[in-house]
Amino acid sequence: MKKLLIIFCLFLAACSPSAEPPVSVAAGGAGAAPQAPMTAAVMAKFNNSCAMCHISGVAFAPRLGVAEDWQPRLAQGRDVLLAHTLEGFNKMPPLGYCMSCERSDFVALIDYMAGESE
Ligand code: HEC
Repeated sequence: MKKLLIIFCLFLAACSPSAEPPVSVAAGGAGAAPQAPMTAAVMAKFNNSCAMCHISGVAFAPRLGVAEDWQPRLAQGRDVLLAHTLEGFNKMPPLGYCMSCERSDFVALIDYMAGESE
């Protein structure tokens, strides 16, 4: 299971347009990966918070994996997206209602929502 997750993360990293997130990801905790992996734990946080608005696009929230929703957002730069996630942005609530999210979780969540289009 763990191995599968790692492969999945590598796959995501390969797909993301910029090789490195602009912020330094100082993930706390033992064994934290230097990048921001989309783990099952982060996925659970997504389901409990961001998903509420970012799947159906509540109040014009950019939808999960919908490239045209994310293109203009990504054009601002990922550090702006992270700042807006932490501080809030119009109807986007500060921290996206995820009080337990670490900075590295937000980086992974933004990549997940913006990057996974089909
Ligand atoms: C209560 C609904 C709601 C929740 C929960 C929510 N968002 Fe949002 N989010 C929005 C809305 C609405 C916007 C669009 C804001 C705008 O452009 O005016 C948005 C925009 C964003 C943007 C783009 C900001 C920009 O600069 O264009 C990011 C990134 C984002 N959300 C990340 C997250 C993450 C990560 C989570 C979960 C931790 C989350 N959101 C949870 C409603 C939500």
